[in-house]
Amino acid sequence: MSFVEVRDLVKKYRRPGGDEVLAVDRISMDIERGDSMGVIGESGSGKSTLARLVLRLIDADSGSVVVDGVDVRALGGRELRRRRQHWQIVFQEPFASLNPRMKIEDIVGEPLVIHEPGLSHRERAMRVAGMLEEVGLSGDHLMRRPAHLSGGQQQRVGIARALITNPSFIVLDEPTASLDMTIRASVLATLAKLRQDRGLTYLLISHDITTVEAMCSHVAVMHRGVFVEYGEASDVINAPRAAYTKELMSARLTVDFGVGQARRELANARNTGKGTDA
Ligand SMILES: Nc1ncnc2c1ncn2[C@@H]1O[C@H](COP(=O)(O)OP(=O)(O)O)[C@@H](O)[C@H]1O
Ligand SMILES: [Mg+2]
Repeated sequence: MSFVEVRDLVKKYRRPGGDEVLAVDRISMDIERGDSMGVIGESGSGKSTLARLVLRLIDADSGSVVVDGVDVRALGGRELRRRRQHWQIVFQEPFASLNPRMKIEDIVGEPLVIHEPGLSHRERAMRVAGMLEEVGLSGDHLMRRPAHLSGGQQQRVGIARALITNPSFIVLDEPTASLDMTIRASVLATLAKLRQDRGLTYLLISHDITTVEAMCSHVAVMHRGVFVEYGEASDVINAPRAAYTKELMSARLTVDFGVGQARRELANARNTGKGTDA
């Protein structure tokens, strides 16, 4: 049995006008423990819906999700909350997902208050400090509030908060989409290292093939709620079979050009002294 098993998952939404949208249409996938599975697709293809269904942040209409042998759709409220410490999500917009009134120390420590209430204040502070260091932040950031951090640093806080309870499975919903190109690379490097150090299993959602290629062993290409292609990353990327994937790959030339352009702009910004992520 795979660590994550999704079978025939379906989610429909009803639009205000009454139309139905089949956001996720009979999707099945397996993720082995310690692997990283990428899902790519355009905006509106159903990626976030899939991400939320897998961790049951929203309820599916039909199908099944089993994580680490646990039937996620069958869990009661209390058991689901207890399991949440093992299954975490990192969202696209770090600032929107962090409470602006809280200090970084409290944002990152909050899951411990909930899931490990027996910890002393001092033990919790030590866990938070260690976690911040692991994601590339320092003690300097502890007493700050989210607005006083750069976008990259905010996302590092989001990652620290997701990992503080030592989860085994992380869903990353476009974790670097809101970041500048070079900051993106350094946050992805941190995520890759965390996965390796902690033996984590990732479901990484992205609209960027380059990101998924660098991070994932397996890739699915999502289009209008279905996987049009699914397999080992090297096969999908080097020898796409579906017409839609081929189209995405040819668009990639433009994306790669975009990377070069961003690098040049960044070099210019540095020369003119405009700062970026620390
Ligand atoms: N809460 C909702 N109510 C109605 N339609 C929704 C809702 N959330 C998403 N959708 C629709 O479902 C489809 C998939 O959305 P989403 O999962 O957010 O895609 P992606 O993350 O790939 O951009 C889109 O057509 C979107 O408009
Ligand atoms: Mg989305």
